[in-house]
Amino acid sequence: MAERVAIILAAGVSKRMNTQLAKVLHEVCGRPMLAYVLDACREIGVSKIYVVVGFSGEHVKERFGEVDNIVWVEQDEQLGTAHAVMCCKEHLKDFDGETLILCGDGPLIRAETLKTLIEKHESGQSAATLATAVLDDPSGYGRIIRDAYGNMQGIVEDSDCTPEQLAVKEINPSNYLFNNKVLFEALEKVKPDNVKKEYYLTDAVSGIIGTGHKVEAITALSPEEAVGINSRAQLSEASKIMQRRIQRELMENGVTIVDPDNTWIDARAQIGQDTVIEPFTYIHGEVKIGRGCRIGPFAYLRHGTVLKNDVVLGVYTEVKNSILADGVRARHHSFIGDATVGENVNVGAGSITANFDGQNISRTNIGNNCYIGSGAVLIAPLELKDGSHINAGTVVSQESINESGGKAERDVSEG
Ligand code: UD1
Ligand code: MG
Repeated sequence: MAERVAIILAAGVSKRMNTQLAKVLHEVCGRPMLAYVLDACREIGVSKIYVVVGFSGEHVKERFGEVDNIVWVEQDEQLGTAHAVMCCKEHLKDFDGETLILCGDGPLIRAETLKTLIEKHESGQSAATLATAVLDDPSGYGRIIRDAYGNMQGIVEDSDCTPEQLAVKEINPSNYLFNNKVLFEALEKVKPDNVKKEYYLTDAVSGIIGTGHKVEAITALSPEEAVGINSRAQLSEASKIMQRRIQRELMENGVTIVDPDNTWIDARAQIGQDTVIEPFTYIHGEVKIGRGCRIGPFAYLRHGTVLKNDVVLGVYTEVKNSILADGVRARHHSFIGDATVGENVNVGAGSITANFDGQNISRTNIGNNCYIGSGAVLIAPLELKDGSHINAGTVVSQESINESGGKAERDVSEG
C-alpha cells in the first residue's frame, strides 16, 4: 500500500464571508471548521497533514498549536487552489506516494467517504480519483464534465461554465486523491486562464486527463457532505447538518432528545445513556452529562460543566464551569457558576451563586445533601458543609457563616 499524506487548503481570503477572521476558524457547532477536516484525515490514517495557511494564518496556527503530524505551509499571496498546493512543493516534490487534497471549508466530509475514495483509487490504479456529489442546486460549485460514455473530461468552475455546463448537477466538493508525482507535474502547467485569473487545482485535474492518465470521478458524497462554506448562509446550513449528525449519534447512544429542531448541542458535549434533553436546551462547549439526567426545557449549559448521574436541571437554569454530583436538582431559574455541588443537593427556585465580584471570579463549594431555599444568593468564595440548610431569601457569604458560628448554614432546620 502506498504511503499517503494530506494537504488541506486553508489560506483563502474569504470575500463572501465578509470577515476579518480566517474562514477555517469560523465555528460549526462549537468547533472551528478546520478541526473536522483534520479529524477526517486522522481517522483514515495519513502520515502527515500539510495545512496551507495565509490570510490570518497566525491565528489558525495559534488556535491549533503545534500538533505532531501537522506541517504548516505558508501561502503568502492567495493566487488560487493550484498555487496553494504548489506551496507544498518543497516538502513533497520527491514524495513517492498518494496525496489527498481537501479544503478547510468543507467540514462535513466523513472519514468513511474518504475510505471509499482511497479504495476506488487503489483498485482502479488511477492517477487521480475524485469524490463527487449530485446536488439539486449545484450553483457556485465546479461542475464535473463527462463524455457520452460517462468518462470524466474535466471540471469547470461555476464562473467559467457555459449555460449547458451550468445545468450539470454533479459537482466537485474538492476531495481528491492523487498520485503525488503526476499531481506536481500537472501543477507546473496550470495557467490562470479564467474569469478570476487564479491558478485552479481543477485545471490540474483536466491536465492529468489531457496527458492520458486515468482519472476517475465517483459519486461518493451525499449532498449533505458536499456543502462547502463560502458564506454565512452556508455556515449556518453546514451547522444545521452537523447538528443533526451530533444529535443522531447521541440518540443512537441512548440519549432522548425530545425536540431535535429546538435543541442545540456542541460537538464536544458528551451525554450518558437515558438522559433526556427537553426542548430549547442549549449546550455549549466541553460539557459532560452523565446517565439518567433530565435537562431543560430552556436550560443553558456552558463550557466546563460536568453533571454526574440523575441530575435534574429545569427551566432557565444556567450552569457554567461547575461539577454537579449525583442527584443534584435545580429545577427553576438558577445560575450555578464555578461551583462544586455535592450529592443530592436541592437548589431552590431563583437561587444563584454570585461568582464574580467585579474583579475576580471565585468558587463555591457546596457539600453533600444541602438544601438551598428559594431565592438564596451564595456569595463566592464560599464553602458550605455537608447537610447545610440555607433559608429562602438569604444572602450567604463566608463572613456571615463565620460570624454566626456556622449557624447560618443550618438556619432553616431550626426555624
Ligand atoms: C473550490 C473549487 C470548486 C469546488 C469548491 C468546493 C477550485 C478552483 N475550485 O471552489 O471546484 O466546487 O471548491 O467547495 O479549486 N484556498 C487557498 N489558497 C488560495 C485559494 C483558496 O488556500 O489561493 C483555499 C480556501 O481557503 C478554501 C479552499 O482553498 O479552503 C477552496 O477555495 P475557495 O475560494 O473556497 O474555492 P471555491 O470557490 O469554493
Ligand atoms: Mg469554497
